[in-house]
Amino acid sequence: MTSLAITGIGTLVTCDQETGRGPLGVVEGGTVVCDGGQVVYAGPEASAPGGTDERVDVGGRCVMPGFVDSHTHLIFAGDRAAEFAARMAGADYHPGGILDTVAATRSARPEELEASARRLVALALASGTTTVEIKTGYGLDARHEATHIGIARRLTEEATLLGAHLVPSEFAADRAGYLEMVCHAMIPAASGVARWCDVFCERGAFDVDESRAVLDAARSHGLGLRVHANQLGPSGGVELACQAGAASADHCTHLTPADIDSLASSETVATLLPISDFCTRQPYPDGRSLLDAGAVVALASNCNPGSSYSISMPLALALAVRHCGLRIDEAILAATSGGAAALQRDDIGTLRPGARADALVLDAPHPAHLVYRLGTPLVAALLRRGVWEVRLSPGPR
Ligand code: NIG
Repeated sequence: MTSLAITGIGTLVTCDQETGRGPLGVVEGGTVVCDGGQVVYAGPEASAPGGTDERVDVGGRCVMPGFVDSHTHLIFAGDRAAEFAARMAGADYHPGGILDTVAATRSARPEELEASARRLVALALASGTTTVEIKTGYGLDARHEATHIGIARRLTEEATLLGAHLVPSEFAADRAGYLEMVCHAMIPAASGVARWCDVFCERGAFDVDESRAVLDAARSHGLGLRVHANQLGPSGGVELACQAGAASADHCTHLTPADIDSLASSETVATLLPISDFCTRQPYPDGRSLLDAGAVVALASNCNPGSSYSISMPLALALAVRHCGLRIDEAILAATSGGAAALQRDDIGTLRPGARADALVLDAPHPAHLVYRLGTPLVAALLRRGVWEVRLSPGPR
């Protein structure tokens, strides 16, 4: 693998306060040097080591870490545009729509599912995302979930089993039987393939006791824990996630003051998914109170065919700033180092020396433009593991 120096950076945003100044760890006129897929230097141009195989001058553009999207559901078939249109006309969101996607996904061939998920990962890359977590959850039987977790694992090291997404129709009269299958068949089969296990703790999905049983089984099989928590109401999911030592409580749309205290005093990251709140016409989570209380906040796309059919982290940033009370710098941290914290990773989400060489070159002087110029594609180039996935071409800034 060749070594690389990225020079001519206007504003270098490292998202690491020890590498640069202010909350975003900014270095004006900085250089990033990568070798072996890792950052080996991020700092002023004058002190950068020389002698790299390749030098790319980005012409005064801003460079920042690639986004870390810590919550997606990309293994699915079918679409639910009619359900979405009905919601936009005033209908409520119901998790039951998940079962429509389960039917379409079970009838799809694994190769089709993998190709479709790969297309979504390519779209994520094109919009600046260099790490993506991928959940299952539309198979909901042992055979399909095992196939789907295998697909997710081929696309990312952050693969998550979500067998406990909803009770499928064939188990409608036997919830206990379905939970038994999740805990004693799906989870053991996913161990060694998936890194994580998630559960949808919500009225209409799984209650707190059922969710705890899933998390206990996952822990005993060596899987890390994640929880869909408090999306449609105060489900008790946040408290459960914090008690269980989950890496992340995701959604956090309906929080009580006690939930905010629990998140602030635990290691569990509060992951906000504002695109789904937009698409389901839910209120937005109170990110301001979470940050003020001292919680670690992440932002993710929640790309899925029901509640959030978008894999755009810039859209999540814009909504978090406009509706969740985050400042732009806080939203950028939540979408980079915050996402890394939600995945318990310290090698992504920043451009500090030792981090993975995942960098985003923006057609803009500052990352605030991601929100300021919302809806405008601003990815001029993208480096992942030290390799250019999107190459710089001459053009406007
Ligand atoms: O995170 N809430 C549960 N799962 C997804 C929605 C899935 C769907 O509606 O298909 C979510 O929003």
